[in-house]
Amino acid sequence: PKILYIEHNGKEHVVDADVGKSVMQNALENLVPGIIGDCGGACSCATCHGYIDPAWEGKAGSRNENEEMMLDGALRVEPNSRLTCQVIMTQELDGLVVRLPESQF
Ligand code: FES
Repeated sequence: PKILYIEHNGKEHVVDADVGKSVMQNALENLVPGIIGDCGGACSCATCHGYIDPAWEGKAGSRNENEEMMLDGALRVEPNSRLTCQVIMTQELDGLVVRLPESQF
């Protein structure tokens, strides 16, 4: 399945994502700039912040409790903000669009 990442400057990156890996991991493995993932996916750094395109919000699930807590302390949080290490790629999410914040700090 594909994921389309859109950097804050509008630059697009389409990647062939691996099912079962998170949207953060898929970004890192495909060298998409703008996602850092400092904690390796443990939901404790909030440097994998991304905005799920509204069309995908239902399918991508919703924030878990830890994620909610981490996002509380993050910058530029919007209603469609997620920590992308908590969004696991599935075949169903083929075509997922994730916009990236201006910075992770
Ligand atoms: Fe650290 Fe997602 S990679 S919270």
